[in-house]
Amino acid sequence: PAGLKGKDFLSLSQFNSDEITGLLESALMMKKEAKEGKFPPYLKGKTLGMIFEKSSTRTRVSFEVGMYQLGGNAIFLSSKDLQLGRGESVEDTAKVLSRYLDGIMIRTFAHKTVETFSENATIPIINGLTDLHHPTQVLADLLTILEHKGKLKGLNVCYIGDGNNNMCHSWIEGAVKMGMNLSIACPDEYAPDQTIASSAMNEARTTGFSIKITSCPKTAINGADVVITDVWTSMGQEAENEKRLHDFKDFQVSADLVEHATSDFIFLHCLPAHRGEEVTSEVIDGGHSVVLDEAENRLHAQKAILRAIMGDGMV
Ligand code: CP
Ligand code: NVA
Repeated sequence: PAGLKGKDFLSLSQFNSDEITGLLESALMMKKEAKEGKFPPYLKGKTLGMIFEKSSTRTRVSFEVGMYQLGGNAIFLSSKDLQLGRGESVEDTAKVLSRYLDGIMIRTFAHKTVETFSENATIPIINGLTDLHHPTQVLADLLTILEHKGKLKGLNVCYIGDGNNNMCHSWIEGAVKMGMNLSIACPDEYAPDQTIASSAMNEARTTGFSIKITSCPKTAINGADVVITDVWTSMGQEAENEKRLHDFKDFQVSADLVEHATSDFIFLHCLPAHRGEEVTSEVIDGGHSVVLDEAENRLHAQKAILRAIMGDGMV
């Protein structure tokens, strides 16, 4: 969309619904072109640096392929190999990389790190996942829902599992922007970040849509058009794995639970998944699951982001 040129993509709260809709339309258009074998070089000569402080399969490959399809280049930068890993400051790294690159995607732990990158870089910064947010994934989720349901506004979405989680936080922001009702079921001690939740709830009040948090999965999933979950133990929380398996045991998305969703619900999971933990094989490998379309849509949604912020800024 016009007006996003030079902007960062750190969280969905930065954008209004028209901008998100514009990105989704651009993604659909470029997806169609790609299926026809057309790859217009909207980012010819541009280079994206991709800094990873955590593992990745989808994010790394979809950003890299996306840049190639847009006629540009992508450079994979492991924090182990960068001087960043030996103590060079985020500030200096951001300033120096801005002299070579046209954009930087970062996957890291503290959300503050991407903010510090953004404050010091003179090029667009994209959040490829932090402990707090995973906005590029939720844009791909929205694209997937739009394709399968034909609309976003007014749909009932439920998220079951860890509420204090990057996917849940970005979903709270995405749902409120797009006028979707979101019901979150999580154990009380794993509630979403208070600031993110209360600001979304305030915004939802003005739009007539709702964000609800409960500790009862059956209540949350009742009448859901879209059912979402994520891992119980996110990257960086491995030491808590055993406790989390215990704390979340009643929050598994199973065939019994999805009986309470609408008869044509779709199931989303950003992957990687742990079958037998947050979701059963029956559900994630079953007829309602759209997880592979969702994974593919990372590519198309991110091409729209890259083109908007690093290219001409137009759809
Ligand atoms: N969904 C997602 O971000 O996957 P990766 O961790 O493989 O990038
Ligand atoms: N919540 C998960 C998402 C992985 C893509 C994590 O942070 O590990």
